[in-house]
Amino acid sequence: MRVLGIESTAHTASVGIVDEGTQVVAAATDMYKPVQGGIHPREAANHHAELFPELVERVLSQSGVDPESLGAIAFSQGPGLGPCLRAGATVARMLALTWGRPLVPVNHCVAHLEIARALSGFEDPVLLYASGGNTQVVAYAHGRYRVLGETLDIGVGNFLDKLALGMGSTFPGGPWIEKWAREGKTVHDLPYSVHGMDVSFSGLLTAAKALQTKGVGKEDLSLSVESHAYAMLCEVAERALAHLGSKELVLGGGVACNQRLRRMVEEMAHARGVRVFAPPPSLCVDNGAMIAWTGLLSDRSGGRVEVARSEVLPRQRTDQVEARWRVRTTEHVSEG
Ligand code: ATP
Ligand code: FE2
Repeated sequence: MRVLGIESTAHTASVGIVDEGTQVVAAATDMYKPVQGGIHPREAANHHAELFPELVERVLSQSGVDPESLGAIAFSQGPGLGPCLRAGATVARMLALTWGRPLVPVNHCVAHLEIARALSGFEDPVLLYASGGNTQVVAYAHGRYRVLGETLDIGVGNFLDKLALGMGSTFPGGPWIEKWAREGKTVHDLPYSVHGMDVSFSGLLTAAKALQTKGVGKEDLSLSVESHAYAMLCEVAERALAHLGSKELVLGGGVACNQRLRRMVEEMAHARGVRVFAPPPSLCVDNGAMIAWTGLLSDRSGGRVEVARSEVLPRQRTDQVEARWRVRTTEHVSEG
């Protein structure tokens, strides 16, 4: 069975087709890049609505799949920006109706975890999910994925993007910070904000901007922020592993493309005897294939919805969604 997935939670419009063996049969992606400043939800949604017909065409011609043979059409239901989510859901509904295929809503955060879990071959990993809009540590318990810790303010990627923009980058800024950090020599002191299982980045942003004003160059500043921010992520991921007694960790989200973060996480995991897996960059960033794959899992366990009940949920929480495909028959499902 093959499933087509539509992703449109924020900047990225993406369509992917996967098969039952997690093979990405076809993928097409286009990112909205604001001319200036941060994301404008309506503009991003218009970008997605304009691009989706072409992206769908591309995956169909790449794969040679007969659309009427698809097992299902999956789409990102939330969390995300309302206008962007609606642009994707509208396309998904239209395709489902045109081709007579079932429609399956997917939680975006769960999809980051499921694609990494499938590719890693791990049974029950903890996910460190580090993207622009989200920063969370997620694990499965009693029928649902649970957020064990998260950012109290902005996502780590947004933090990097904002800082980089002020140092002359284009969007997205994370890869610029990574490039500058490689040339850095000195790590300057910055706030280290870990609160139990949670992290926060706004104080770090303010302090980093102040260092920039004082004349610290972008190379040292980038090295300093990467060292602090990624150490914070390693700490909360490690605490989750320790509490759960877990020996498996996966990474997801655009910031998981970062080589320094990957190295730091690997060092921490190695010291604890934990196995780590990070998907290839194309499957760390937002992508339609992860939505298709999670849609495939969900469809097998009754996840279809009628078009009339396929509303988007911009504030959908990870633990509001039943992960029915993970539930063993002997397991108690909590109301969460
Ligand atoms: P979500 O809806 O999951 O929050 P998103 O819209 O932020 O997703 P992603 O594609 O998951 O989209 O992540 C984009 C973020 O990843 C941006 O903030 C970008 O700067 C960051 N990023 C991408 N590559 C790197 C890198 N090499 N190093 C650091 N950050 C990176
Ligand atoms: Fe994402």
